[in-house]
Parts: sequence; structure tokens; C-alpha cells
Amino acid sequence: MPNGIAAARNIADLQLLARKALPGPVWNYLEGGADDEVTKRRNTAIFDDVLLTPEILTDVSNIDTRISMLNIDFGFPVIMSPTGMSQLFHPSGEMAVARAAADHAVPYALSTMATTTIEEVAQIGGRRFFQLYCFKDRRLTSELLDRAKASGYDGIILTADTPVSGNRERDLVSGMSVPMKFPLKSLIDFSLHPKWSLPMLFGKRVALANMTGGHWGTGSAAGVIAMVNGQMDRSITWKDLDWLRATWNGSLILKGVSAPIDAVEAAKIGCDGLMISNHGGRQLDGAVTPLEQLPHIRDAVGDAVVLILDGGVRRGTHILKALALGADACAIGRPYIFGLAAGGPAGVHRALQILRTEFERGMALLGVRCVADIRSRHVRWSGQQAATDFAVRLERNAWPNRPETSDNGPWTAVGRSAFSPGKAV
Ligand code: FNR
Repeated sequence: MPNGIAAARNIADLQLLARKALPGPVWNYLEGGADDEVTKRRNTAIFDDVLLTPEILTDVSNIDTRISMLNIDFGFPVIMSPTGMSQLFHPSGEMAVARAAADHAVPYALSTMATTTIEEVAQIGGRRFFQLYCFKDRRLTSELLDRAKASGYDGIILTADTPVSGNRERDLVSGMSVPMKFPLKSLIDFSLHPKWSLPMLFGKRVALANMTGGHWGTGSAAGVIAMVNGQMDRSITWKDLDWLRATWNGSLILKGVSAPIDAVEAAKIGCDGLMISNHGGRQLDGAVTPLEQLPHIRDAVGDAVVLILDGGVRRGTHILKALALGADACAIGRPYIFGLAAGGPAGVHRALQILRTEFERGMALLGVRCVADIRSRHVRWSGQQAATDFAVRLERNAWPNRPETSDNGPWTAVGRSAFSPGKAV
């Protein structure tokens, strides 16, 4: 166990610190996945099946981790995924995450289920997306859209993989369900974590900050959560995405894409970006991992759409692998919450610093100077995937001659194809 934030060498160390800081029920809400958590585990484990092929003697004295996409300049190719209820993990909550994101020049995605308002987060001034659910009562959705627009949000992320909640059995056991009902073991656990419990008892009430008043009423947090759950609309379809595209003229990102056929449909409707995601393994257990689907989706949509790999990223080399397989950027959820729970603002900052440093070092060791130079030839699958991948590449002539390395400098990532046939990828 590292001795504090500064001593955390990697995201796994922050995870250990977060585990120690949080009472069991809160930890399980954060870490847990659906059913047997197979998909949650595989989201990270699958990165081990992708092997990097470093190239040498390439002069890596200057490494440029910046990219530019969706009209945003990024310090490095990472997005903070939307996660609900951040003040549950530390009183500084969403504000700490948004501030650290702004400091590292990466966009923050504020969740509909946030404990800080759309307007407060906007005051920080970093680049930001708002994550939206399409509620049964479309007026509720429209109001959130209007507020995001008025507060200058760069884009909307529509989460589409939650027609119903996933079966998170850890929460059923610990009582973090709706309505909350804590067994004695959980209550003892809360009392053994006074540093967490006392601010919860005596500090500002943790509530879904964007859903109070008006149609939402002013009931208890649990009551509002129950109402939000009741508003989750199982009947949403592509027509609703059409509606959103017509209503919102900033960037539109669809979150929860796994199937290439869905990616193609979303591109047709005019989405600017897709988050390839299974909600961090919290929804359909047994679902395919984002990394496995990424090359197929890139193949299906070509260069037209930004692809963001979301789920399982814990190392800078994971970002390298995803980019080599066709992603433009990666999104992270639990890694920054581990930091938040472990040490508030300093912890989130440390999480980003760790990933950025690892990514930069990985680029140097891979032999690339800028993000544009990370190409499909830098990775290959091991294990069962290898044979299929070999056949696909052979068919597409995806091993070109050594290309000219690009000049250092921010590079517009939009439209990079992992398997561009016959050209110097
Ligand atoms: C989430 N996620 C999520 N997604 C979303 O669209 N809206 C939300 O409110 C939430 N809330 C949320 C809470 C917590 C505690 C977690 C861990 C996750 C999913 C999140 O955006 C992202 O898809 C995953 O976290 C990505 O997987 P990793 O990075 O956690 O492995």
C-alpha cells in the first residue's frame, strides 16, 4: 500500500488507497460490475492480448502528446467519462474532477447524475461535455439540453446503453440500492470510516444537483433517484437520436456503442463521435469489450467519425494500444474516481499525471514522436485474435513501407483509419 497520493506509482496504487478510504458499500458501488463481473474484468484484461511492436532509432528527444479533435485541443488523448454521484467519493466531487481535467487540458464529461450543477462546473472554464439520458418526459431532457447550451458546453454525450439498470449484485448485498437499505454490516462499515462518514452526516447534503425543483420536486436524494430511474425510457430508438441531432448543434457523441451496425447508423444520423463502451461492465455482463470491437467499428465507419474507447484503461500503454487499433482518444471512469476517493483534488490530479507520464514514456519507447505516428503496425493481437487479425491485415495490405514520421505538433485526429489500405498509415 503506498503511503499517500504522492507515493502512488500507478492507477492500481490509487485503487488501493481508494479502497481503504471508502466504506464497503461505497467502494462496491464504485468498483462493481453487473452479474459475475466478467465483462468488467475483461475490459482491462483484454489489453494484455494486444502486443506492442516498438521501433528503434527514431529520435524521440521531443515527444508531443497533444491532439486536436471535436474542436478541442487536448493535452493528451484522454476524456473524463461521465460518472454519477462524485461527492459520494469525496466532498470536492465534480468540481475537483473538472478542475484537474482543465489543468491537464482534457475534457470533462459531467453526468446527468452529478452532485454539482451544470452551471457550477461551467465556471471552472475547462472544455466540457454534458452527458444526457433521454427521459420518458422529453421536457426534462430538453431542459437539461438548454442549460448545457446556456452554460457553453462543447458537446452532448447521449448514453444509450441503459434502457434498464444492470444487475449490480454488490449493491444489493451492501444496501446501495433504491431504496437504500443498509444491513448492520454496512452500518458498521460506515462507522469505521469516520473521515468519510462525518462530512456525509454533517456536511452539505449529497443530492442529484441538476434534478431538484421544478418537475423533479424537492424530495430526499433517494426519492429523486427513484424518480430518475422511473424516467429511464426503454422505448428510445434512432428517431430520438435524430431528434437530438436536430436540436443540438454542438458536438454530439453517442455512448454505449458496441456493434458496428450501430456505429454506421449513428454516423449516418450525424454523430460527431462514438464512445465504444459497455458502461465499464456495469450493464450487460458477457458483453464484448470495447477494445475487441474497436478495429471492426473503425473499419465500418471509416474516417468519418471520432472514436473514443471507453472502459478498462488503467495504463498509458493501454492508450497507445487503443490508438494503434483505431481510436482517436480513450475515456476513463474509475481511474480518476480512485484518485478522487484517495485524495480529493490532489488525487484526481495524480491519476491524470500518472496516465500522461506513462503515455509519454510509452510513446518514446514505441519510437513515435507524436500521436499521429501511432499506427496499426505498432500492435498485433496475441492468442486467439491473432489469426483473424493476420488475415484481415493481409487482405488490406496494412503493412506498408516505413512512412515518413510526421512533424511534431498538434494533429487533427479526426478521420484516422487504422487499416487504410495501401497508403502509409
Ligand atoms: C459510471 N458510468 C456512467 N456512465 C454514464 O453515462 N453516466 C453515468 O452517470 C455514469 N455513472 C457512473 C458511475 C460510476 C461510479 C462508474 C464507475 C461508472 C460509466 C462511465 O461513464 C464509463 O463508461 C466507465 O466508467 C468506463 O469504464 P472504466 O474506465 O471505469 O473501466
